[in-house]
Amino acid sequence: MSKQNLRLAIIGTGNISNSHLRKFALDPNVDIVACCDLNLKAAKDYAKRHNIPAVYDDMQAMFDGEQLDGVSVCVPDGAHAAVSIAALKSGLHVLSEKPMATTLADARAMVKAAKKAKRVGMINFSYRETPGLDEVKKIIDDGLLGDLRHVEARYFQSWLNGVTWGGWKSRPAFLWRMSQDHRGGTLGDIGCHIIDLTNYLVGDVASLSCMMKSFHKGVRNNTYKGYTLDADDTFIANVEFAQGAFGMIRATRWATGFSNDLAVDVFGTKGSLRLETNGGTGKLKVCIGDLQVARSLWTDVPLPPDAYTVQQRFADSIRDGKAKSPSFEDGVRNQAIMDACVKSAAKNGMVAVKV
Ligand SMILES: NC(=O)c1ccc[n+]([C@@H]2O[C@H](COP(=O)([O-])OP(=O)(O)OC[C@H]3O[C@@H](n4cnc5c(N)ncnc54)[C@H](O)[C@@H]3O)[C@@H](O)[C@H]2O)c1
Repeated sequence: MSKQNLRLAIIGTGNISNSHLRKFALDPNVDIVACCDLNLKAAKDYAKRHNIPAVYDDMQAMFDGEQLDGVSVCVPDGAHAAVSIAALKSGLHVLSEKPMATTLADARAMVKAAKKAKRVGMINFSYRETPGLDEVKKIIDDGLLGDLRHVEARYFQSWLNGVTWGGWKSRPAFLWRMSQDHRGGTLGDIGCHIIDLTNYLVGDVASLSCMMKSFHKGVRNNTYKGYTLDADDTFIANVEFAQGAFGMIRATRWATGFSNDLAVDVFGTKGSLRLETNGGTGKLKVCIGDLQVARSLWTDVPLPPDAYTVQQRFADSIRDGKAKSPSFEDGVRNQAIMDACVKSAAKNGMVAVKV
């Protein structure tokens, strides 16, 4: 291990932490030197599988006992803010899983803690890794679509109705996502991704009106293994962007037949584009140019195969001393839109988005 290598740790050794390890491994100057999970056995098994030298079930003991530069926070949504702030207070850079927090107030507290500690804070909005995403944004920013008029963005999953990932009864990772007590729900789970993607491509949302629903899961008392299954399964937000276009952003776990599919359509006065992604691969088609627009003719545009992972960006951000996007500030914008969705659904009306 060379001296200048970054020394990072993983907090929460469940499902998504494996992807953090895979993506950090793309940077030869990063070492994962420790991991921590409340479930010590799970952490030990994980450390053994991945040759991680130090294992903890107490994050503060890890912060105090190891010489760390930063951490990946891979715990459930409800604990992101508390764990991230504790790490920042110990002088560590933080890459937190999405959603940034469960309230805008907590997201702001995370920004404040990062500023005070003068440390990098980033959020793992992993669909930013969609190959060619920056080129898609450039098409919009360069005005090739003209003035934007309408946007449709959606994230479809079907694990409430299918077994592609094992069925929802199979793992606690599904059950906490279905429970309000555990701050689960489609909005924070996958809605944050499609909101971030749309926000990145099209810009800020000024106001919105949102419907959210939790369907009965067909089990007694709508409760399973101690989890009340009352978190939202599906939401639809009608939005007005700050630059004037209207749009619809939606996500559901009831998209039978789709295991994990995102798509964004952007329609402007001079052209349109459609981006489809499952994270690993992307498909872009455009309708741009007088003839194409007049005749509704579309062209497939090849996208580059490689992407700059959020984990590589985090390591580079630590070295540069400045957070790259998706940063905590992007997370706050995201959280403000989600908070507005919750408020709108509760009052059944339009709500302004206040960052
Ligand atoms: N970026 C993505 O695309 C993506 C994909 C999947 C999950 N996620 C996010 O990753 C996070 C974890 O999801 P998961 O599917 O890996 O869940 P999981 O349930 O598989 O794993 C979470 C782990 O965290 C541990 N844990 C809980 N609280 C802890 C604490 N305070 N300190 C230490 N360990 C703690 C649990 O014991 C568990 O092992 C969630 O916030 C989820 O939204 C993001």
